Amino acid sequence: MSHPRIAVLASGRGSNLQAILDAIASGALRARLAGVFSDRPQAAALHRVPAALRWSAKPASFESRDAYEQALGDAIAASGADWIVCAGYMRILGDALIQRFAGRMLNIHPSLLPRHRGLGTHAAALAAGDAEHGCSVHFVIPELDAGTVIAQARLAIAPGETPERLAQRVLALEHLLLPATLKLAVSGRLAERGGTALVDGQPMFTPLTLDSTNGLAPLPRPIP
Ligand code: GAR
Repeated sequence: MSHPRIAVLASGRGSNLQAILDAIASGALRARLAGVFSDRPQAAALHRVPAALRWSAKPASFESRDAYEQALGDAIAASGADWIVCAGYMRILGDALIQRFAGRMLNIHPSLLPRHRGLGTHAAALAAGDAEHGCSVHFVIPELDAGTVIAQARLAIAPGETPERLAQRVLALEHLLLPATLKLAVSGRLAERGGTALVDGQPMFTPLTLDSTNGLAPLPRPIP
């Protein structure tokens, strides 16, 4: 049986994409990359994969946002993607595109949602005096950064922390959390129903976290 396919949407550097590629290459993540899709043709992320797996188009070159998202959605569908992950995709997605891939579109966000939606999360966590910060992987819904959270990784904010340093430390966690969550997704054991994440059909009332082996916990049974 061929492995499930993952489409990655990225606008910039693509270090989370790289973490996915590395997890696939090491065999830790039994999946195939369906393609990398970008709103910025110059995005470094695109160059992490062979040309045949790249799709990019400037939204401004379409007559409307809907037309752009129709083309993006058609390209994702044509890639045969089973799961779609926004990994540093910096445009807000429209309802039609989100509905088209409902329940199989994930986003990684650099905060402990529901705290600090949107941009500037590291500075926001410092300004709020938070003791902890981190990252979340959640299902995408039309409301920004508001979908059901599947998994989180957290760290303690150190004295004298800067937004830049915090961003680096959180990014290192993102590179663990995203492949771990995708591993669960492609295992076929993750779903979403009515605002709740389900694992093996059982509702999860709190987000999963990284365990000492960088897998997700608690799971009813390990992912083989
Ligand atoms: C990551 O920190 C990701 O969580 C964030 O952008 C960065 C992309 O880095 N995403 C968002 O802020 C989405 N709202 P990368 O291109 O190196 O993966």
